[in-house]
Amino acid sequence: MPLTKDTRALQADLEGLAIDTLSQGDALALAKRLRSVVRRHDHRYYVEDDPLIADREYDRLYRTLKTLEAEFPEAQTEDSPTQRVGGPPIDDFQKHEHPKPLLSLSNAFDRTELREWYERCQRGLADRYGTVEPAVVAELKIDGVAIALTYDDGTLSVAATRGDGSVGEDVTHNIRTVHRIPLRIPVASEAEVEGPEHLEVRGEVFMRKSEFDALNERLVEEGEQPFANPRNAAAGTLRQLDPGVVADRPLSFFAFAVGSVSDNDLATHTEVLDVLDALGFPLESHTKRFEDLEPLLDFCEQWPQRRDELDYEVDGVVVKIDRHEYRDELGTIADAPRWAVAYKFPAREATTTLQKIRVQVGRTGAVNPEAVLDPVEIGGVTVSKATLHNEDYIRERDIREGDTVVVKRAGDVIPQVVRTVPDARTGDEEPWTFPATCPACDTELVRLPDEADHVCPNSECPAQFKRLVEHFVQRDAMDIEGLGERLSHRLVDLGLVTTLADIYRIETDDLTPLDGFANKSAENLVTAIEASKDRSLSRLLFGLGIQHVGKTVAELVVRHCASIEALAATSAEDLDAIDGIGPTIAESIVDWFAVPENRTLVDDLASEGVNTHRQPHEAPLEADEDALPLAGCTIVLTGSLPDWTRADASDAIERAGGSVTSSVSGNTDLLVVGANPGSKLASAREEGTAILEVETAEEFQELLDQGMTEVTDS
Ligand code: IVH
Repeated sequence: MPLTKDTRALQADLEGLAIDTLSQGDALALAKRLRSVVRRHDHRYYVEDDPLIADREYDRLYRTLKTLEAEFPEAQTEDSPTQRVGGPPIDDFQKHEHPKPLLSLSNAFDRTELREWYERCQRGLADRYGTVEPAVVAELKIDGVAIALTYDDGTLSVAATRGDGSVGEDVTHNIRTVHRIPLRIPVASEAEVEGPEHLEVRGEVFMRKSEFDALNERLVEEGEQPFANPRNAAAGTLRQLDPGVVADRPLSFFAFAVGSVSDNDLATHTEVLDVLDALGFPLESHTKRFEDLEPLLDFCEQWPQRRDELDYEVDGVVVKIDRHEYRDELGTIADAPRWAVAYKFPAREATTTLQKIRVQVGRTGAVNPEAVLDPVEIGGVTVSKATLHNEDYIRERDIREGDTVVVKRAGDVIPQVVRTVPDARTGDEEPWTFPATCPACDTELVRLPDEADHVCPNSECPAQFKRLVEHFVQRDAMDIEGLGERLSHRLVDLGLVTTLADIYRIETDDLTPLDGFANKSAENLVTAIEASKDRSLSRLLFGLGIQHVGKTVAELVVRHCASIEALAATSAEDLDAIDGIGPTIAESIVDWFAVPENRTLVDDLASEGVNTHRQPHEAPLEADEDALPLAGCTIVLTGSLPDWTRADASDAIERAGGSVTSSVSGNTDLLVVGANPGSKLASAREEGTAILEVETAEEFQELLDQGMTEVTDS
């Protein structure tokens, strides 16, 4: 039965219903209907990324189910969608023996090695099948944690990590909280399929980059240690004993194979993937079947450059022979199948010499070590600096000046020194010790017990102020074009900027005497500073550099306070009451406004004409989100849009009710194309996705105001 019809019928039946007057039989029947409908909406939302009903409608159904289960405990089942919040913590992990081992993969590093692998497969099949050109399936290799999910009679019974391949750890309690993994199959809303009685599904649990960034931002705000990368975050989260913690963290999942199964008469991997899809498992959307070798090799070679388009980390392409019969014939060697290979992307690591370790003072006074390197190219970018995090990081790895070190750069994160190569030492390298005083103001540094960072306690430290200026003018804050790191430091050194408000007092005449400033460039900078006065309140708030107030927190706060003056008058208690803001953040904001200099700063900024009020687009979301112009639309951006930065355009789409994803898939409703589009345009054409070419800022605004149909039909 179609989900919409089921939902409407259910909603009609719930209208005016008093749960406590239900008979036991009616309660059980109603719980069953609610479970089925909520589960199918979960699937639309989490797996298909294409919700059918408004969040509020969903919440009502979900809450009714909870109430019903509380009133009638017999109505609660293990696979109920309400059971995702996480049960009680466990004491320790149980071992789980895999019915069939989870194999690993042999690697290929270039075109030649891939070709050799394919030819080996052909030779292996020749005896029995003669000369064949077996079709293959290429899947992106997700960099996460392998997991095996066992379903008995349609219900998730065990979820286990790979472990050593034969025995893994039972992490069922945690996996139950992952919305993208079905607790019950089949669940695909409109699919008419039945899963087998016993089915083991294998796949990768991972964390999306965007969700990883948000999680780390939150951890830092809560005073916790952030994760080094999405893979560690996924692994660390799965290893939690308390599923309540896991339920709060955004894990994702893609299925890529079937392990043990009660009946399997499928002839190919392609069919397996189709069945997994129909049963409701999320699949990676770039998987492709190839009949010929050359296009496969092109596909593999194209992904190292395209990987940053994705919202998850991939470290290779897994190539698998499609026909099961061929796989059986080829068999397994050691712990890897002969019928599959991993094409590994070139490393994003390089080896170089660490010339020197220096410490940098941050805007909040944190003092962190940084490596000065012999410049080295990693993935097309020259790297000459890398982070060393803190004293313990260096000590644990015994990193010394003069060492040969391995440096890693992934995506757009700051490069980091991952380890040294001690064999390359001459013997003259000395262990490094943290300086006792601040390199900028000579104040003695403090390291609090339980804290990883050293801190310069001098609130007047010039280095801290330079960092604050740099932070204030950056793209995500006041976005002052032409005012970068170096120039902001220079303005501070010259005494032109002694408080943030001074930025707005700069005149062209102040700049023209400076080296490298012609009249024109001085005017441009003053114009850019002037333009930044109209930035949104959340940008200003973020720019002020209040401890624990990142971008997300600033946006949240602004939804509740209409101006900076209103925020200054808000109590810690009221701030704490905002969903997503805890006592640490609340205190930090109140403390900041309690400092007289900060109050003066706010007044000065306002009297210089800087906007301190919430702008219309920052207002709390309209009550009826369905009525927003882009409600339910999934949009991908490519190329540069006139007068819109990528971040602002994404924000604006979200405020108009749409969602923005990083790559084109079957779920994409629209590709917005600016100047110099990337490969997404070709993907959209391939997928048959609607395309909107935007040449003027007004055209984009029209999309935001009018919604998709209006714009794409015209
Ligand atoms: S197939 C015999 N497919 O890579 C086939 N593995 O080194 C074994 N992985 O531990 C796995 N994406 O966790 C396969 N599309 C994919 C994959 C994938 C990621 C991981 C998997 C496994 C490791 C193999």
